[in-house]
Amino acid sequence: MLLLTILSLALPIKVHSRTPLYGPCNVTNNHLDADTKDFITDCDSFGFCSINGTCLPRQCRQDEYLMTSLLDPTHVIPPLCPTGSFCPDDASGCLPLVELGGVCQLNRDDECAPPPNGAVLILPSPYDEPQGDGSICLLGTCMWTNASLGSSCVTETITYVGYDLSGMSYTNTVIRDNCIEGQGYCDLTANQCFALATLGVGCKSDRECQSFNCGSAGICIMPPESAVRVAKWIYAVVSLSIGISMVGVLWLLIVAHRRAQKKRRIMLEDYYKEQTAYRNSIISFHTAFASRDKPFDSEKETFRQSLSNLSDTTLVQGDR
Ligand SMILES: *[C@@H]1O[C@H](CO)[C@@H](O)[C@H](O)[C@H]1NC(C)=O
Ligand SMILES: *[C@@H]1O[C@H](CO)[C@@H](O)[C@H](O)[C@H]1NC(C)=O
Repeated sequence: MLLLTILSLALPIKVHSRTPLYGPCNVTNNHLDADTKDFITDCDSFGFCSINGTCLPRQCRQDEYLMTSLLDPTHVIPPLCPTGSFCPDDASGCLPLVELGGVCQLNRDDECAPPPNGAVLILPSPYDEPQGDGSICLLGTCMWTNASLGSSCVTETITYVGYDLSGMSYTNTVIRDNCIEGQGYCDLTANQCFALATLGVGCKSDRECQSFNCGSAGICIMPPESAVRVAKWIYAVVSLSIGISMVGVLWLLIVAHRRAQKKRRIMLEDYYKEQTAYRNSIISFHTAFASRDKPFDSEKETFRQSLSNLSDTTLVQGDR
């Protein structure tokens, strides 16, 4: 009983063992998973199921980068397809691009040949949202995204179901249409292309917004990953203020330098004036003495005499 319960629990998450290369397979088992829409085949990740019922090595790949689990020295890495061709889901070999109205696989817009230059209008997204080349794979058919505003359009609604680590399922519904990219979306009830809403305009889903981001308040908001765009006048104001402040700083430095220079010059001038004054007074002193040499000498004599008199007196006093 317990074993049965465990088995029934284990059943939904059983990973079906897949056939290795050159093992038997059945092409009719090729399908998309009902929940995840992943391509399912009997063969393992290295092979595709050929029509004669054998898993043969994959002939091409879709992804530029390979999962490490697919890097195996015993297997050759299948090549990418050259431009003008695509690698189908089963990777059985490159095929030429599908023309308008031809059959394509789910979510494989890359299988459709792009329309001739200028045949389909694409309005560039102001928010750098990814855009196609004018061709789209809708309902298994290659179409052009050329339905103008008010004209009838085609929608494709796909619900993807995923499981998180705890086993809880979550869904993601993707609605795609053939309205002109960047111009309109296909309204599900009117089946007509309606104009995309600009920022701040009410919306019910992301696809109604030009920014492809319908906020929780029910209005179109900027996409979180969008680049911040700075208006030209802000560039002008910022560069002008940088220029002005640079000139200002330069001017301040020049003024400060000039002031310091002037202060130093005045100091030096004062010093030299002082020195010249000293020199002049010394010179005049000398000249004065030179011109009064005689009187000076006699004065000196008088002084010496008085000095000797004084010392005599001192001596006399000392003797006592
Ligand atoms: C299927 O075709 C491949 C390549 O053409 C061949 O190698 C293989 O033997 C064939 N298998 C059968 C069962 O015929
Ligand atoms: C628009 O695209 C469809 C295919 O999706 C095509 O049949 C039709 O001719 C195109 N119309 C114009 C005007 O290019």
